[in-house]
Amino acid sequence: MHAGLKHLGISLVAIAVLCGSEASAADANHGADLAKRWCASCHVVAAEQKQASADVAPFAEIARKPGFSADKLAFFLLEPHPKMPNFPLSRSEATDIAAYIASFR
Ligand code: HEC
Repeated sequence: MHAGLKHLGISLVAIAVLCGSEASAADANHGADLAKRWCASCHVVAAEQKQASADVAPFAEIARKPGFSADKLAFFLLEPHPKMPNFPLSRSEATDIAAYIASFR
């Protein structure tokens, strides 16, 4: 018997999607919209949200972690995260979401 070779396809996903303006002022309201669209299936992203995955930290909790900083968070969001789907977030979208999460502090 000839065992078929399994091919492991490793695709590197480029996430440098720098579109639009490099606006310096983060827009937390826009971040809230993005969070509800992209993150709410797993994270509790707003005070009025009642349900999400049980073992995933709510944004309010993430914001209160020691060492939290919106800058670090925005950077984190540009990297694919284990268990988290790969978001095609632009740099300004990541900054907006970080600003939104920071507003929970
Ligand atoms: C498919 C479910 C899922 C989605 C959607 C999701 N996350 Fe997550 N997220 C997780 C899980 C699970 C973890 C914990 C990761 C781990 O322990 O490896 C996590 C961890 C994080 C952390 C780190 C928390 C910490 O404890 O430091 C941040 C920040 C975060 N997510 C932000 C986001 C943002 C922002 C979005 C939307 C753009 C998002 N997540 C969407 C599942 C998800």
